[in-house]
Amino acid sequence: MVEVRFFGATQACGSPRTVDPGESPTLLEITAAAGLLLGRSCGARGICRSCSVTVRRGLELLTPIAALEAKQRLPANQRLACQAAVHPAASGVVELAHPAWGR
Ligand code: FES
Repeated sequence: MVEVRFFGATQACGSPRTVDPGESPTLLEITAAAGLLLGRSCGARGICRSCSVTVRRGLELLTPIAALEAKQRLPANQRLACQAAVHPAASGVVELAHPAWGR
């Protein structure tokens, strides 16, 4: 199992979620289930970058960056939530942060 924790600009927010890595949920699906909003103006097609999140911990527990996401040239600690998913073999803790959460 993978525990996903959420942080706003300065503090933890939302309730941690435990996800089944076998289902390989996207970060967008996980944050939506936690009631935390992210932009998705391109309809989760990996084009707009509005869903980008900072991964404070657990980058290695996520699926590799595919070509579509690589085109966005995000900082090394950020992922597109619509493209990045929990790796099916992952176990551990992922911490996600977005400055708009917890306001
Ligand atoms: S929703 Fe547009 S890049 Fe993720």
